[in-house]
Amino acid sequence: MEQQIIAGAGSCRQLRGYLRERGLQKLLLVCGGSYDRLRIREEIEASGAELVRFSGFAPNPRYEDVCEGTALFRRAGCDGILAVGGGSAIDVAKCVKLYSKMDPGRSYLEQELSDTGVPLIAVPTTAGTGSESTHFAVIYFQGVKQSVTHDSILPDLAVLDPEALLGLPLYQKKSTMLDALCQAIESWWSVNATAESIGYARRAAEAIRDVWAAYIDGAEPDAAERMMLAANDAGRAINITQTTAPHAMSYKLTSLYGLPHGNAVAVCLPEVWGYMLAHPEKCTDVRGAGYLQGVFRDIAGALGQDSPQAAVDWFRRLMQTLEMRYPVAGSWPGEWREMVQAVNPTRLKNNPVALDEGALQELYERIVRHEA
Ligand SMILES: [Fe+2]
Repeated sequence: MEQQIIAGAGSCRQLRGYLRERGLQKLLLVCGGSYDRLRIREEIEASGAELVRFSGFAPNPRYEDVCEGTALFRRAGCDGILAVGGGSAIDVAKCVKLYSKMDPGRSYLEQELSDTGVPLIAVPTTAGTGSESTHFAVIYFQGVKQSVTHDSILPDLAVLDPEALLGLPLYQKKSTMLDALCQAIESWWSVNATAESIGYARRAAEAIRDVWAAYIDGAEPDAAERMMLAANDAGRAINITQTTAPHAMSYKLTSLYGLPHGNAVAVCLPEVWGYMLAHPEKCTDVRGAGYLQGVFRDIAGALGQDSPQAAVDWFRRLMQTLEMRYPVAGSWPGEWREMVQAVNPTRLKNNPVALDEGALQELYERIVRHEA
């Protein structure tokens, strides 16, 4: 399915025309608590459609939250869904779309997924997850992460308005930016990478390299727009390739240490990267170890570094400069085995270097013992 993208400062103003053209009159507005403080709120409310607000979901949305949103969508007789928020709001909206025409008398998790045809619009308010341009969503059922994947949940329209980023707290800005950077890097080295996905990943990595300091500093208005486009490119890249080991390893760090998603992934990425550079003989990409070495050199080049090792070092320095959080050293009281076994094997298969349980344990030990 082709997605329409409207980008640029003030692009939210085009929502009105889009809704009118499609005859959409009543939308389920899926948004977080920060919605009330958004500068773009006025433009959204001037879009001409009646908005039925749903904010009843956790930062890591639960299945029950989605059921509640789905019930409201039906009760109110909505004809479309508008997500305004970060990855969580957009993921909830995607699942409401899927569940909206299922049998409410049975578990939605057990029913077959199909395209409900409900129009879905995403207005991201972070430059990070790229969820506005992917066909995946993540929700939790009884504390266990569920990956929901269906072609029809790629939003019909993504509105990339940098004014939506105004007021984003600094730590969230850093954490979501790192998510985008990690997604670009992981997509590039993924065994599923194609010429098209690498094009998006390269563009995202180069833009983030150029603009990260100005974006974090907040001094240049153009930087927010470029970062938003870069995050969207990284989202489009993982929409083709999916993510790899750093993402797979990060979910346990988020649940155990409460590290926000982007921060948790960024803590894992340099360790996995370093391990892969040290173990070319464990390459699993059918294109071979020589291909993978070339990929590592290309990634380094895009980040302005002259060798793969220099790129890993650059990433570590970036983490220090941004003063990102690490799990507290020595604070993991449980069994390493439990941590290692929580890693999703499907995501690990996308990784171009094999990571067995021993390797995962070694990497987790290094991450938890990190002294920032
Ligand atoms: Fe991510």
